[in-house]
Amino acid sequence: MHKCDCESPLTPSVVEIMDIVEETSDVKTFYVKKPEGGVPFDVMPGQLAMVSHVPVGEGMFSISWQEENEYLQVAIKRVGLMTDELHRLEVGQQLGIRGPYGNGFPVEECKGKDMLFIGGGIGLAPLRSFIKYCFKHREDYGKITIVYGSRSYDDLCFKDELFEKWPKEKNTEVYVTIDNPEVCWDGHCGFVPAYVEELNVSPENTVAVTCGPPIMIKFVLESLEKMGYTDEQVITTLEMRMKCGVGKCGRCNIGSEYICLDGPVFNLAQLRELPPEW
Ligand code: FES
Repeated sequence: MHKCDCESPLTPSVVEIMDIVEETSDVKTFYVKKPEGGVPFDVMPGQLAMVSHVPVGEGMFSISWQEENEYLQVAIKRVGLMTDELHRLEVGQQLGIRGPYGNGFPVEECKGKDMLFIGGGIGLAPLRSFIKYCFKHREDYGKITIVYGSRSYDDLCFKDELFEKWPKEKNTEVYVTIDNPEVCWDGHCGFVPAYVEELNVSPENTVAVTCGPPIMIKFVLESLEKMGYTDEQVITTLEMRMKCGVGKCGRCNIGSEYICLDGPVFNLAQLRELPPEW
């Protein structure tokens, strides 16, 4: 059994909800005040936070962005009792929050590289933290290509950024697809892995980062391999396995490895060393 050597606190800080943005019919982004008073909450892209609401318990969610000394953004999809209750909260109410947890994306190692971000559904939330980090440190990264898809137009998260803000960023291309045609949609239709192959972004000096439903990730990895990406050039996050985040609950392991202690971000070469349960 691994021993948790993280410095993240086990006691949550109580923080106020400053704003709530309805991304889709079942995803809301909560803007919460950053905890104050000695709580180590310096977040790197790809890290997660434990969010608690006293009557219903707590859950692990990715931090989709932070604004230093101001607020954290946590995108939460409604999938059950706890998230139903969180979606009922309003601006001004309070949440418990502790963290951050996980290793986060390798932002330093990716410097000087072109970046290919591939997301599906709520999987854009963790990628968004890395995408926005790249924009904030724009000179450190090369061309940025974002490929994102969802079941329908309504299910696309962060529409304002996808369609308005990100395409205006320097040396950046954004491609959006939905699974099936819709009357109001004149953009691309089809599944994300096929779109990735169609776009065929060169692997030369490029790092691909993907997050989404497990079935999408499986086929995206196959597509990237066909396109010539090596295992070291492909990064994903197994954040869906993060439960306690500190090596205590035993619910994240693959073989003898604890995803919460070594991950949740891995490159494909690292994942291939694990039993094929991911
Ligand atoms: S042991 Fe609980 S999430 Fe890893």
